[in-house]
Amino acid sequence: MKRNKLVLVSLLIAVAFAASVTIASAAPIVIKFSHVVAENTPKGQMANKFAELVDRDLSGKVKVEVFPNSQLFGDNKVLEAMILGDVQLAAPSLSKFKKYTKSLQIFDLPFLFKDMAAVEKFQKGPVGQKLLMATKKKGLIGLGYLHNGLKQLSASKPLRVPGDAKGKKFRIMSSDVLAAQFKAVGAMPLKKPFSEVFTLLQTKAIDGQENSWSNIYSKKFYEVQPYITESNHGVLDYFVITSAEFWMGLPDDIRTVLKKDLDEAIAFGNKVAAEKAIGDRQKIIDSKRSTIIELTPAERQQWVDAMKPVWKQFEDQIGKEYIEAAVAANK
Ligand code: LMR
Repeated sequence: MKRNKLVLVSLLIAVAFAASVTIASAAPIVIKFSHVVAENTPKGQMANKFAELVDRDLSGKVKVEVFPNSQLFGDNKVLEAMILGDVQLAAPSLSKFKKYTKSLQIFDLPFLFKDMAAVEKFQKGPVGQKLLMATKKKGLIGLGYLHNGLKQLSASKPLRVPGDAKGKKFRIMSSDVLAAQFKAVGAMPLKKPFSEVFTLLQTKAIDGQENSWSNIYSKKFYEVQPYITESNHGVLDYFVITSAEFWMGLPDDIRTVLKKDLDEAIAFGNKVAAEKAIGDRQKIIDSKRSTIIELTPAERQQWVDAMKPVWKQFEDQIGKEYIEAAVAANK
């Protein structure tokens, strides 16, 4: 009798354990997508679109949780957090990978790409595709590039020629190329997180910064920066990135659908980026809070002449043939 009872109890425990395992394995895979910009930006919209597509295609199996505005991690922490498994997806600017690879520095070289079509051509070409794996050894894989747009220079004083930037403090992303670019015009670069830029500008702790029209508009930099020089001197694009361990650990069928949804969300985000580069610029003009300075070809050439020597400085780290491939994308 006692023995029967024991068998029954053991059986019940086994059934309960099996049930709990079933429940646990039925829980959806959670993908935390952390980013630093506002929701109404190319990246914000791309992230939300991805969550929507995954909900459509993998409902109950995968759930994407989006954390905008540096709510979860700033870009200085997000990649470490990703390696530790605390976040699964992010899209930091290509300027924020110096701890992980030197090759992506190519995107920061001033006046490298003549427009976004050239950026797209380079990214889709063999070198751009190879660069997606540049961080793999460090446990991170690029799943794609996302556009924001060309960068402009905003400042408290008009910047027409490089001499106007001399001695001024500019916030930059954590890139040595960007530091060299500002030093090349006699300015003082300061590496600061995106979340601090508005306050630094508002309190006049710094004189200026560089960013896309979308970021200048959505983070209200134009309200505290009376001048924006339309320099188009560099590109602000993103590396949509995940942890290799997480990505390769996914079931094959799930990974395939996620990649398809991500490609669709990126294409959508790129469309938003193209629209915002025009629309947000116009909204800034309409606000009358900031004057947009259009450079004459001769003025622009002065910026090119001053900043372009930075290419040589980083040629060994980046690779001459990569730079040549980027230049060729302008044709
Ligand atoms: C910046 O830090 O200025 C940008 O990279 C922010 C972003 O993600 O667009």
